Amino acid sequence: MKKSLIALSAISTLAFAASAIAAPAIDGAKLLDERCKSCHVSARAKMLKKNKAEWEALVNRMVTKGAKLSASEKTALVDHLAKNYKP
Ligand code: HEC
Repeated sequence: MKKSLIALSAISTLAFAASAIAAPAIDGAKLLDERCKSCHVSARAKMLKKNKAEWEALVNRMVTKGAKLSASEKTALVDHLAKNYKP
């Protein structure tokens, strides 16, 4: 009984830690400014207008070229682009 209580509290502590890490929303605008300028200016994307699927395809293409984005960062960046640079 005691053991399972300890296990339970360990799990909830872990869950809490994970949610604390995931909590701050990823800032797509910041990602665009920081991750997209190593090969060309970030403005290269800001001049374009695309729908979400097109932005996703473009960001995927940049990732194959070497842009450093985790899966969740990619989602945040595509959301930001689709919301602010749409046709
Ligand atoms: C590792 C280098 C690299 C990084 C990092 C990078 N790009 Fe690119 N990007 C390129 C190259 C090379 C081209 C030109 C060749 C091409 O268009 O496929 C390009 C072209 C582009 C173009 C013009 C393409 C068009 O269809 O007009 C846009 C827009 C663009 N990148 C956006 C981005 C965005 C947004 C990011 C951040 C996620 C990013 N890039 C990060 C290498 C990179």
